[in-house]
Amino acid sequence: MAKFTVVDHPLIQHKLTLIRDKDASTKVFREVTNEIGMLMAYEITRDLPLEDVEIETPITKTTQKQLSGKKLAIVPILRAGLGMVDGIIDLIPAARVGHIGMYRDPETLEAVEYFAKFPSDIQERQVFVVDPMLATGASAIAALDQLVDKYNVSEEHITFVCLVAAPEGVKALQASHPNVDIYTAALDEKLNDHGYIVPGLGDAGDRIFGTK
Ligand code: URA
Repeated sequence: MAKFTVVDHPLIQHKLTLIRDKDASTKVFREVTNEIGMLMAYEITRDLPLEDVEIETPITKTTQKQLSGKKLAIVPILRAGLGMVDGIIDLIPAARVGHIGMYRDPETLEAVEYFAKFPSDIQERQVFVVDPMLATGASAIAALDQLVDKYNVSEEHITFVCLVAAPEGVKALQASHPNVDIYTAALDEKLNDHGYIVPGLGDAGDRIFGTK
């Protein structure tokens, strides 16, 4: 089984409390969501490979570490995933960004891809799939199904990153994609009857884009 990590750094917990507040403005919600994305980027990149490099300091020659050049991609699930991208990119500016959008067909209840655009070498990259809320897991699972089955990205190269997860969503995602690491800033109590995470923060997409 892959890793499941709650990134509960005090700064992240504090910032998450700010955006859980129903009175947080769109501006605050947007800014702080990106800030949490940036702080999480620090943790999700912890295992990136390093290599030795010879350099010269003003004092002496020395062998030090640098990132080995592993290529990265960030893939927000539309639309709420967009809200974390800028913050993550602040920390890993060379990462490419792909996008995926899924909707559920009301007749067949099947998840349908309505938009997907990835870097052409996505299979060679470490891919961070981003969606602030892991609720039932349906859209995350659908997006990962597409990445693995249609675009041939191996599960071992995928990390799923969210702000708030429900136990139900974590369980479903782990069952369907057992080799995908999951990072969340919080593991909440449960889903309510409407599929919202409790206590949660409401509809992340609406709060990021001010569409309510
Ligand atoms: N999506 C959201 O934006 N919020 C939830 O609580 C659940 C799903």
